[in-house]
Formats: sequence, structure tokens, C-alpha cells
Amino acid sequence: MIADNNCIVIFGASGDLTYRKLIPALYNLYKIGRLAEHFSVLGVSRTEMTDDSFREKMRQALIKSENASGEMLENFCQHLYYQAVNTSDPVDYGKLLPRLDELHDKYQTGGNTLYYLSTPPSLYGVIPECLAAHGLNTEEFGWKRIIVEKPFGYDIKTAKELDVQIHRFFEEHQIYRIDHYLGKETVQNLLVLRFSNGLFEPLWNRNFIDYVEITGAESIGVEDRGGYYDGSGAMRDMFQNHLLQVLAMVAMEPPAIINADSMRDEVAKVLHCLHPLSVEDVKNNLVLGQYVRGEVNGEEVQGYLEEKGVPADSLTETYMALRCEIDNWRWAGVPFYVRSGKRMPTRVTEVVIHFKTTPHPVFSQNAPDNKLIIRIQPDEGISMRFGLKKPGAGFEAKEVSMDFRYADLASPSLLTAYERLLLDAMKGDATLFARTDAVHACWKFVQPILDYKAERGRVYEYEAGTWGPTEADKLIAKHGRVWRKPTGEMKKKI
Ligand code: BG6
Repeated sequence: MIADNNCIVIFGASGDLTYRKLIPALYNLYKIGRLAEHFSVLGVSRTEMTDDSFREKMRQALIKSENASGEMLENFCQHLYYQAVNTSDPVDYGKLLPRLDELHDKYQTGGNTLYYLSTPPSLYGVIPECLAAHGLNTEEFGWKRIIVEKPFGYDIKTAKELDVQIHRFFEEHQIYRIDHYLGKETVQNLLVLRFSNGLFEPLWNRNFIDYVEITGAESIGVEDRGGYYDGSGAMRDMFQNHLLQVLAMVAMEPPAIINADSMRDEVAKVLHCLHPLSVEDVKNNLVLGQYVRGEVNGEEVQGYLEEKGVPADSLTETYMALRCEIDNWRWAGVPFYVRSGKRMPTRVTEVVIHFKTTPHPVFSQNAPDNKLIIRIQPDEGISMRFGLKKPGAGFEAKEVSMDFRYADLASPSLLTAYERLLLDAMKGDATLFARTDAVHACWKFVQPILDYKAERGRVYEYEAGTWGPTEADKLIAKHGRVWRKPTGEMKKKI
């Protein structure tokens, strides 16, 4: 299905998401012929710029990040336009009317408009209201969709308030809450792996799975986002959205059919089944950490408290590890260990399914566990680990692996997360966007942890370049397990 002709209006066009992710994604889609035949992009923000100066800024960004050049680049840039608007003044939005009329006319878009809110969250409620004040939300003349970047709220209360604000002017079918993890090829592949093979699904439950590990590790620190990050921390920045969405993909039931409603019904259902955390659970099953000075990839790096924009007495966590459970027939009693951190030894996102051991160790007391490792990034792939006979005398079992790497496919041509999601939104496919009930379920689950943090709950130090505080090792060791330390392994093997 090809996207309809449309105009994409990016609010926050002078911000870094626009030139780092959105414009490159649109450019790449244009290059491979996936955009509609007629489209235009209207950048909007407070900064005064002309069409030409906006084009020049985007042109430079594309040359730098995408190695863009020649006619392709020039032709793409001709589709870019700019309009300065004081985004907190409802009257000023009037300036959009003649601009949009002109673009809809020129590109025969039939009024189809995709609004992308890439602004500070404080404007998420304001922009829909101001658009509505000028009738720019109605679908009488073409569809109107609105993409909202995370965070969708700051806690359960503000998430609900934000929802009410947006829903006053846009209906749920018009709202696309973007979580870029859902746009990642390997996250989607989790579903295909599970539901298009007879091999795995019969084992995918409490009878055969011992525990599940989900890791979202980054070697970077907070970079120049200290100000934002300090108000957020790993719980809000990574866990509440990205990692809980990954968990939902691992744990959900098969949808009856693949469409936005049925998929998102299953996602919401499993998130509602997360075992609610009591104060005791939070104390026993959660470890928060903050990095101090150390070495990452051979380079000395500063501690979190020394980062720009971070208060010297901050208790914000840059690492979290949590043991959680899902109260349903499939998963009762199976622990999910989820961890995420900045300034870890390497960048890796993966899911590890640890299967139960054999009931009776015939060949060796130390036979390896059976594991399925789903590598989300980098070097996307899947690795199955199991025991086979160690060559030579005796019957000792040794771990071997069967590996698949996306890079080995003849033409991997993967769309990046933003490319995939922007394209889906233009086609009106909301399957990979977070629905309001799922977002609320995530906040509801996380709220006891936020309350604990607000009471200045304990945050342990860890040295940059390590796998987090030792307390996190103790958390998993309590149950006789260890975290996987996935440094570079998939790259060499598979
Ligand atoms: C963003 C977070 O949503 O996801 C960042 O705000 C984090 O702090 C990023 O670095 C991770 O995304 P990815 O795709 O690099 O894993």
C-alpha cells in the first residue's frame, strides 16, 4: 500500500530530532521511492527562517549524516518549506492556513496532513488545541493525523491529563504515539519468530521457560541532554516505554489477525497482567544505579554528577534493574529480569529466553542451559544455544550455537525505525504505535517505582564501563541466576 499524497508538518523543526532523525528518514524513503508521489514537508517552530534557509540547514544535515548529494538531494529539498509560528500563541497558528492551502493545492494532497510533534512535552496539549482553533484538526477535507513523541506524560496522573487534552481535539484513530523501539526490525521479528513457527510457541510458557532477561545497555552517557535526563532517569527514559514494549512483544498472546486493533489489544492485555509492585516488591526487586567516573572503550569518562546540566546532588538513576512477573496462565511464576543503563561496557539490546534444564542430568552435572538470544541491536540476529557432546572421551556436554544474522540475508535493506514508523503513519497503519490503554498500563505499573524515587530511594554507584552496581548482580543471584554479559559476542560468531 502506497501512502496517500500528503503534507507533513513538523513542529519543533529547528530542534535536533528534525535534522538528526526525521528529515534523514524522509529523505531515505524518498530515495527508495516509498513516499507518495506528491508530498511536502512544512517545518514549523519559533525561530525565524525562510524556506531557503531551512532547506540549506537540512541539506547540510543530509550531506553530513546520509552522504546525500546530486539531483536526488536537490529534488528532495525542493519539497521542504518553513513557517515561523509562536507555538504558544493560538492566534499565530493562523499563519499556517494560507501556507497549508498553498501546499495542498500545489501537491494535490487533498488536505491530507500529518502533524509531527517534535517539541518539548509542555506543548503536546497546546498544539492540538491551537490547530483545532483554526479547524486544522477536522477530517472533512483529507485525513489529519498527529504523531506525538515520548514522553507521553511524566507519571500516571499527567499521562491521563495529556490524553484528555489531546482527545478534546483529536480522536484516538488520529493519534499516533511513537515509540521508536516498535519500529525496529528485530522487535517486530519477535512476533514473526514466535507466531509463524510451530517450533517455539509450544515451549513459550511457564512449563518450559525458566526466566527471561531483557537488556537495553548503552555505552554513551547522557551527552548534552543532562537537563532533560535528570528529570527523567532510566525508568522514564527507557523502561516505562521502550523496554516494556519489548517485554509485551515477548509475552503477549498471538493476535487473531495482524491489524492495529487486534495487535494492540494483546499488547494492552499483557501489560495489564504485570504483577503490581508493592512497596516491599520495589525494595526487594529493584536496583537503581548512577555512574561515576570510569573507562568506556579505553576512554576515561566523567561521572553522571559531573555532566552538564546535572545538579551536583542528583539522585537520578542512569541504571535500573527490575525483577517482575506477569500474572496470567502463560507466565505465572516466570521472572522477567529487565535492566537498562548508560555508560555500560557496550551498546546492546537483547532478549534472552532461558529454558528450563533437563529434569535429570544424564550426561553432565554442568550441562549448559538452553537459551534463545534475540539480538535487537546492533548486529541484529538470533542465536540458539544448546549442549552437544564435547569431542573426545566421555559424554560431557558443551555449549554450541546456531545463529542467524540479518546482515547475512542477500538484501537486508532494513528500514530504520523512524523510516518504518513515518511510512506507517502516512499509510494510516497504527499497528506499531502505542495505544492509550497500553501507555496507561505502563505508567500504572511504574508508578510505585516513581513514588519510591520521589522519596529519595536508594541509588547505588557503579563505575562507568561496568555492568552496573553489584547490587544488581545480587538481585538476580538471589534466585540462583546471573546476568549475561553480552560484549561483542554476536559479532564474531553467528
Ligand atoms: C531514547 C532515549 O528514547 O532512546 C535515549 O531518550 C536513548 O536516552 C535512546 O539513548 C536509545 O535508543 P536506541 O535506538 O539508540 O537504542
